[in-house]
Amino acid sequence: MKVLFDEHEIIVNAIDTARQAKSLIGKYDVSYEKLIHQLIGFFRNYADKYHHFKEEEILFPEMAKRNELLADGVIKEMFDNHADFREMIKGIEASLNEKKYAEAQQKLQQYTESLLDHIAVENDEVFQSSESIFSEEELEKIYFRFEDCDRELGSAKKEELKELADTLRKNLLMAD
Ligand SMILES: [Fe+2]
Ligand SMILES: [Fe+2]
Repeated sequence: MKVLFDEHEIIVNAIDTARQAKSLIGKYDVSYEKLIHQLIGFFRNYADKYHHFKEEEILFPEMAKRNELLADGVIKEMFDNHADFREMIKGIEASLNEKKYAEAQQKLQQYTESLLDHIAVENDEVFQSSESIFSEEELEKIYFRFEDCDRELGSAKKEELKELADTLRKNLLMAD
């Protein structure tokens, strides 16, 4: 589960950058627009493609097979959240393309709040229960499948996205 916990941490960092981006509006609109486009790219690729994919294709189905209550409860909720997040990102992008920065930021704020809640539920409930559902051996198998998943999507690209998030954060702190 450490793989997923670590990815959450990187996503939370990007969330923080997204929230602080607000300070650019009205002062540095061009930089704001560019930053949010890059963050959207990060959330779509890193958070969705690399991270949610592992949960949706590997962890959640394995958990659902073991426990019907979880399948109909929290796991279903997590799937629904992921679908909502994709729609929310589209909404942010639409406002940004119309240069409605305050509106884009407001939607971004909602998105990041929901994503933080989602991450908290996974950290505190879902990942915890997965560690009690599966044996060490099963967890190891899941871990190897996670690794395969990253390799197929591109491990170098994943690293680049992580660095992008770091760079965006540093640039924003400097602009402030
Ligand atoms: Fe998730
Ligand atoms: Fe997650």
